Amino acid sequence: MQILELASDTDTRDLGARLAARLRRGDVVALHGDLGTGKTTLARGLIQALNGPETEVPSPTYTLVQVYEGPGFPLWHFDLYRLDEPGDVHELGWDETQNGVALIEWPDRAGSLLPSSRLDVFLEISGEGRRARLEPRGEGWQERVDELVV
Ligand SMILES: Nc1ncnc2c1ncn2[C@@H]1O[C@H](COP(=O)(O)OP(=O)(O)OP(=O)(O)O)[C@@H](O)[C@H]1O
Ligand SMILES: [Mg+2]
Repeated sequence: MQILELASDTDTRDLGARLAARLRRGDVVALHGDLGTGKTTLARGLIQALNGPETEVPSPTYTLVQVYEGPGFPLWHFDLYRLDEPGDVHELGWDETQNGVALIEWPDRAGSLLPSSRLDVFLEISGEGRRARLEPRGEGWQERVDELVV
């Protein structure tokens, strides 16, 4: 587990970019946190690091998912806030993401369909900034989380 203080929006984006550099096909990153804690900001930093700084990264609040072709692998950016029930994720391409990376806002909405091997990122308000807690679950994440923080 690692805890990071993110003093500004830029720090949140930068954490996303540092994560991006370590991603590989099949990874699942769950972005937990209340409304407005910076989940989409982190996703934007991550996606733009992979796809270029000009890439538009809208919040998938209404579409529930946004797909980026990548250069290296496709990436699915989910926002499950408005999901009615866990089973509805199947309509969003949930079962295709093994070929790429899944980045998931409001991951608890997927219930038991959330893959158990994943990186959990918990975001919360901390003064004027945010605090991120990174919790690796399953093989391969611990090392990468440690690298990210040094
Ligand atoms: N480290 C930070 N310090 C201060 N403000 C931040 C930080 N990171 C992000 N923000 C700001 O927090 C606000 C909300 O960010 P964002 O939309 O990413 O949250 P979210 O968690 O995706 O919200 P939602 O649950 O509605 O999807 C934005 O104005 C963003 O610029
Ligand atoms: Mg969001």
